[in-house]
Amino acid sequence: PSGICLTVVVLGASGDLAKKKTYPALYALYHRGFLPPNLRVVGYARSALTDEDLRSRLKGFLKGEEDSIDKFLASCSYVRGEYNGSEGYEKLQEILLQREGEMMCPSQIVGRLFYLALPPSVYPQVCTGLRHNCTDLDNAADNPKNWIRIIVEKPFGKDLQSSEQLADSLGALFPEDQLYRIDHYLGKELAQNMTVMRFANTFYNSWWHRDYISNVQITFKENFGTQGRGGYFDQFGIIRDVIQNHLIQLLALVAMEKPVSLHPDDIRDEKTRVLRCIAPATVEDTVLGQYVATGDEPGYLDDPTVPPGSKTPTFAACTLYVRNDRWYGVPFVLKAGKALNERKAEVRIQLKPTPASLYLSEGMRNEFVMRLQPGEAIYMKTVVKKPGLEMDTEMSELDLSYTKRYSGVHIPEAYERLILDAIRGDQQHFVRRDELRAAWAIFTPLLHQIDEGALTPEPYDIGSRGPASADALLARAGFEKGAKYTWNPSAS
Ligand code: BG6
Repeated sequence: PSGICLTVVVLGASGDLAKKKTYPALYALYHRGFLPPNLRVVGYARSALTDEDLRSRLKGFLKGEEDSIDKFLASCSYVRGEYNGSEGYEKLQEILLQREGEMMCPSQIVGRLFYLALPPSVYPQVCTGLRHNCTDLDNAADNPKNWIRIIVEKPFGKDLQSSEQLADSLGALFPEDQLYRIDHYLGKELAQNMTVMRFANTFYNSWWHRDYISNVQITFKENFGTQGRGGYFDQFGIIRDVIQNHLIQLLALVAMEKPVSLHPDDIRDEKTRVLRCIAPATVEDTVLGQYVATGDEPGYLDDPTVPPGSKTPTFAACTLYVRNDRWYGVPFVLKAGKALNERKAEVRIQLKPTPASLYLSEGMRNEFVMRLQPGEAIYMKTVVKKPGLEMDTEMSELDLSYTKRYSGVHIPEAYERLILDAIRGDQQHFVRRDELRAAWAIFTPLLHQIDEGALTPEPYDIGSRGPASADALLARAGFEKGAKYTWNPSAS
């Protein structure tokens, strides 16, 4: 977008998210030439910092050549202000007009992107301040294409009701088409590939339904614990932190029907529709876990920021059912946990056994796997003849591993892509309000029951696969663990 004067305002500029994600993503876009030459980045926060202080804080987090980093940092400045009241925002507006003036853009489009790298509790006051003080753009021609957009990030409430309250208060200030709700999993390469793969190829659709598919697993694993974030995490737990948003978004992409077009609202219509077909999660179909001290490693409750005796789950597995023609009866198991044996995010679709198989294929079920991280890959576990004179069979795979097929290709960070989408005005990969509502409706009754103590987390060791009951839940969903087979991308 070169014909545009762009100002990105990072609110919460002195915080963690800003320095670890927002500024590095902006710099990566700048460095790759995706941002317009007319660019200003204004940081806003309560700390007393000078422009120089901010720049030197950010420098260590930006990866690239010194020269280009310095050029980018030269376009970054800082404004100190409170999040409540209007004083700070009046000052911010003055600076924004000044910056837009420097860029001299009377006949160009003026865009202001406000990135709220802040806790959602302050969103309403920040949006009020912005709405009343920072929405007048300096553009003599008053170009109708000028725009203002706001990026916000989860947690959007703690349940359906609090999420709706937040949505109401933001919705009273800015219309839906100006609000960009980030779910950074939607910015991951393979999440974005899902719709392409499903709808640009003939053969997937023929087996992508209950007649062929036995069960679907959507898994998120981390091999580290809450690491000092325990106090924050404890207010939410793993279902609110990962499952209600990231994993349910992946489920929507797997299960949705073909959209009418690629228009962002057509895609979001289909995602919302399929989410609304999902029956609310139940206590009977859920397993919770909490990691405990193992060897020298401290458990969740040993984190000094976690309240003693907390029952907050750091692991959950939960089976959901989509009540429509395509998926009726197919269990979707969503599983997420911290401090497990590995770091991995994947979608695994297990097909039904081959009917009346001619070959010895016991324990050899076809599986279609989309691995989001680490090492993006898509592979189909397939029974083949073992090479040689005998007619033996073995499990192998049709494999599209990105490191091999696209070696040397840069795969952008989720935040890079999503910020660029917001600058381009493409809301496809952002969560619409009705979609968010549908996602909360699935989990709210379960979360309330858990909050009331209906389900106790089972202890599990750090570095383990999580509580054993989760495997039993998977077995109930019909999942059959393959015999003697490990996917090994480097060997294939
Ligand atoms: C965040 C969660 O949304 O996603 C974190 O709050 C989690 O708890 C993180 O660690 C995982 O993101 P990624 O991109 O590293 O898989």
